[in-house]
Amino acid sequence: MIALLAMSLTTLRVAGAANHMDIGTAVNPDFFAEPRYEELLKSEFSVIEPENGMKFDPIHKERDHYDFSVADKIVAFAHANHLKVRGHTLVWHSQQPSWVMNGTLKPTEMATILQDHIKTVVGRYRGKVYAWDVVNEAFNDDGSLRPSPWYNKPGFGYAGQGTQYIEQALRWARKADKRAKLFYNDYGTEEINPKSDAVYAMLKDFKNRHVPIDGIGFQCHAAPWYVKEKWLKSFEKNLQRFADLGLEIHITELDCDLDASTPEKFAQQAYVYHEIATIAHRQPKVTLLQIWGFTDKHSWLSSRKGHGWGMPWDANYEKKPAYGALRNGILGK
Ligand code: XIL
Repeated sequence: MIALLAMSLTTLRVAGAANHMDIGTAVNPDFFAEPRYEELLKSEFSVIEPENGMKFDPIHKERDHYDFSVADKIVAFAHANHLKVRGHTLVWHSQQPSWVMNGTLKPTEMATILQDHIKTVVGRYRGKVYAWDVVNEAFNDDGSLRPSPWYNKPGFGYAGQGTQYIEQALRWARKADKRAKLFYNDYGTEEINPKSDAVYAMLKDFKNRHVPIDGIGFQCHAAPWYVKEKWLKSFEKNLQRFADLGLEIHITELDCDLDASTPEKFAQQAYVYHEIATIAHRQPKVTLLQIWGFTDKHSWLSSRKGHGWGMPWDANYEKKPAYGALRNGILGK
């Protein structure tokens, strides 16, 4: 009876702490004022990450002006509530301001801009952000490098030179904060496939040459129509090869899209959360299991017509079957 009671009182955070994992979620400070939002952040999570607030566009919308208001609110909330902050993201092709995208900048200017951006943003949160997604989504599905303003459009001086620009960004980030853990983060790299092969080759090379890299982030945006046994087996094997490089592993953006909100779909969703959390539980190098939001009320998935319901809590902050399944997976049950 007592054991049963203790079980039901165990939050995700407590379950994770007993199993080598922080439990994180993406957040938006606009919702801190909602009592349930705030309460769940404090009780269920040990890490928060700005869903948008530290991306290039929101934080550096004008060339000579940074806007830290959103990021500062998140960092202050985390500090007041003993949560860690994960930073996302410094180098990405998406959510870029028009002044970066308008095609007038030369590579030498791009280099000065990015170096200053990394120095300023990472420097401001030195000692407050414990890990950074330094580079996000740099590869195409076939393993080639994705065109991006930072790589080759126009790029900051390394166009056509493979992963050199990623290496340079990591070095700038390390210079700005000696202690923060530096990550490469991507989606579609969960399975062993041409994209994860390319990321693996890059990180193996970086490790061999002592380029500053501490970890790999797997976004893990999931859905029942493809997260099945084959995917899960490949995911587990893939995590092991990255673990064997000596990298820390973060699952950074877990969610599970549905195309209807029926009990049957919720059961499929619970399975997906359970199996992914179980694999994380079994891999000691996984030190963070993070979901991309936690309530359907505010999830990015909920904005797509005919899709959504991707979170462990519904739009009224009630727990769905996915919640218990996620917790059990974290606990290895
Ligand atoms: C998404 C946010 O959730 C949305 O609010 C925003 O409009 C677009 O970006 N991969 C990432 C995240 O690395 O930054 C993205 O976040 C989701 C996909």
